[in-house]
Amino acid sequence: MLKIAIDAGKCEGHARCVARASELFDVDDEGQSFVLANPVPAGQEDAARSALEACPERAITITEV
Ligand code: F3S
Repeated sequence: MLKIAIDAGKCEGHARCVARASELFDVDDEGQSFVLANPVPAGQEDAARSALEACPERAITITEV
């Protein structure tokens, strides 16, 4: 199982994570991303990794739990 964490200090609200994985990420009114589903539901692991790669601030980490 994969678990997503977002470093709030690094996130700048680019929303590329949402573009890559809209079922896993959303961005609030203050431009801070948050996780919609943790741990990552089965079948969405690739989307989670894609979001991690897309974030220009390296704010996302994924750990195996
Ligand atoms: Fe934030 Fe990176 Fe997403 S900056 S909104 S976690 S693409």
